[in-house]
Amino acid sequence: MRARISVTVDGRTREVEVDTRTTLLDALREQLGVTSPKKGCDRGQCGSCTVLLNGRRATSCLALAVAHDGATIVTADGLADGDDLHPVQRAFLDHDGFQCGYCTPGQICSAVGMLDEVKAGAPSHVTAESAVEIVLTADEIRERMSGNLCRCGAYPNIVAAIQEVAR
Ligand code: FES
Ligand code: FES
Repeated sequence: MRARISVTVDGRTREVEVDTRTTLLDALREQLGVTSPKKGCDRGQCGSCTVLLNGRRATSCLALAVAHDGATIVTADGLADGDDLHPVQRAFLDHDGFQCGYCTPGQICSAVGMLDEVKAGAPSHVTAESAVEIVLTADEIRERMSGNLCRCGAYPNIVAAIQEVAR
């Protein structure tokens, strides 16, 4: 069976006809030409396909495209504002948070989603607008980012990058 869906990807609304068995990852990469989410395991184990799906991090290889008609999707490509990188992207560059780069778009989307989760769980006097320091230990970052694997072993630099942004 096939179905027509509409999704907003990195600020652009697109329509696409998908087989009802097509994953969101395949729809993005193979039908919409959005290639920053990477296919690693294709079974929810590596995190390289992570995107922000309606504001929350999600492994797009485990999502069926047809179930997300009307969704808003942000990939690592959509985080930057033109040439202005997102703070997490900037920190990954500053801290050499990658080697081959294959896992990096997923790591960055996951880190952005994770920091939002932490902020949402912060005490009530903390707002997105106030200048606050979110204290995240390296261990906590490792735990919260444990769904994103890096075969190059860039973990120490990834943790350092995220810790800098959290401050
Ligand atoms: Fe989706 Fe590995 S490709 S989790
Ligand atoms: Fe190569 Fe992470 S930088 S897999």
